[in-house]
Amino acid sequence: MAPILKVAVIGAGISGLATARALKREAHQVVVYEKSDQLGGTWVYDPRVESDPLGLDPNREIVHSSLYRSLCTNLPRQLMGFVDYPFAIREYGDSRNFPGHEEVLEFLNEFARDFGLVELIRFKTEVVLVEQVDLRNDQWIVGSRANKVSSSEVFDAVVVCVGHYTQPRLADLPGIENWPGKQMHSHNYRVPEPFQDQIVVVIGDGPSALDIPLEISKVAKEVHLSSKSPDIKLSKLDCGDNMWQHSKIDHVDGNGEVTFQDGASIRADFILHCTGFNYCFPLLKTEGIVAVDDNRVGPLYKHIFPPQLAPNLSFVGVPYRSAPLTMMIDLQAKWMAHVLSGKAPLPSKEEILADVQKYYRYMDDKGIPKHHTHSLWFEFEYPDWLASQVGLAGADEQTRLIKKSYFKFIADKSFWRNGEWQLGYGLEEDELR
Ligand SMILES: Cc1cc2nc3c(=O)[nH]c(=O)nc-3n(C[C@H](O)[C@H](O)[C@H](O)COP(=O)(O)OP(=O)(O)OC[C@H]3O[C@@H](n4cnc5c(N)ncnc54)[C@H](O)[C@@H]3O)c2cc1C
Ligand SMILES: *[C@@H]1O[C@H](CO)[C@@H](O)[C@H](O)[C@H]1NC(C)=O
Repeated sequence: MAPILKVAVIGAGISGLATARALKREAHQVVVYEKSDQLGGTWVYDPRVESDPLGLDPNREIVHSSLYRSLCTNLPRQLMGFVDYPFAIREYGDSRNFPGHEEVLEFLNEFARDFGLVELIRFKTEVVLVEQVDLRNDQWIVGSRANKVSSSEVFDAVVVCVGHYTQPRLADLPGIENWPGKQMHSHNYRVPEPFQDQIVVVIGDGPSALDIPLEISKVAKEVHLSSKSPDIKLSKLDCGDNMWQHSKIDHVDGNGEVTFQDGASIRADFILHCTGFNYCFPLLKTEGIVAVDDNRVGPLYKHIFPPQLAPNLSFVGVPYRSAPLTMMIDLQAKWMAHVLSGKAPLPSKEEILADVQKYYRYMDDKGIPKHHTHSLWFEFEYPDWLASQVGLAGADEQTRLIKKSYFKFIADKSFWRNGEWQLGYGLEEDELR
């Protein structure tokens, strides 16, 4: 019989919950550390914003969630569930295809209750340190703080599930040190009011760089989107009379002007950075064995195991651009738990390190920038591989079809409907079938 391990899970968001369930199923002894007073991570809306709207001040008090008040999921609900625990249409909730964030939180609480996970969580307990006891001892120390009281405990294994949508990543803007206007990163965006009557430039290409400007445009004087995609031409958007699309910003000036590479130049009041986030693990002390370099967390075998410390240190929830995301995280958790139990033993340290290096070389050959190391490009290859490792079938036909029709829709840009940005990209129930 496999030994029962004492495992620390850090974080009680989707990754920590999926991990706790998978470890519990393998009969391990699990402690989940959660610094907040409730589970759900990103999905716990917090109206507070940080004192530094760009997140540069290292002494600021950190607010974990980047949710804004109006946020609905950007994946249809069929793609929001766990492997064997679908995000069904709730009787009491709304039946929109793209539910509001409150419903996701409710779903996660229900999940945690149904699998007896709540009692495993130590709330309001922040992990400040994770390190090996010493080089000869395979165990790990987890140092934590609760109510200003520090304590530490020894574990056989640690799974890091702290999320990666909290620390702002900012674009390089020539001249920004002299630019006199206001700035904010989307991490600190909650409601449109601060943008009332402002001329706003929104930088970014991700989902928040599409969603937030539309909301802002209802109150702002003008909204100018700036994208770094190479094929963008200056154009007026037909989703309101005050929105324009621009190319990348060339530079900004001390007189308040923002000049785009398309040659246009405007005097703006506010720059909103929807430029994504950086991985950040201040709690980890691994003597550089796992490091973050230009948003590559590495080396990590299959985005989970640092070869030198595997399998007792692992990361769940690192990859992004995955649809379905929750299912991918759930499969990571299941595989990690099987590896810890010896049901799915890893190849040798040398082999798994070679595998990571092969992946890095592949990226180099393809010219994929380092900071895209953990992007899954919405492919099924990785989750399907994980599923095969734990004896499950990969994503089913229905999931593939839903994803396909969803992305076709996004690509068609049909979500700009009647000059209105529809919540949830305007997808109707029947369009996903
Ligand atoms: C604006 C926004 C919109 C999104 N929309 C979608 C969507 O529509 N669909 C989708 O599938 N995904 C979406 N995502 C991705 C989302 O992050 C994932 O759905 C999911 O929340 C990731 O879960 P996680 O557990 O990895 O991280 P998180 O949800 O961030 O959870 C991490 C947890 O770890 C805790 N923690 C961190 N550090 C410590 C510490 N030192 N000690 C103790 N506890 C700690 C935190 O308090 C938190 O509870 C969105 C993300 C953002 C930012
Ligand atoms: C992982 O932890 C178990 C239990 O403490 C231990 O027996 C094993 O040697 C550890 N493995 C490594 C590679 O450190």
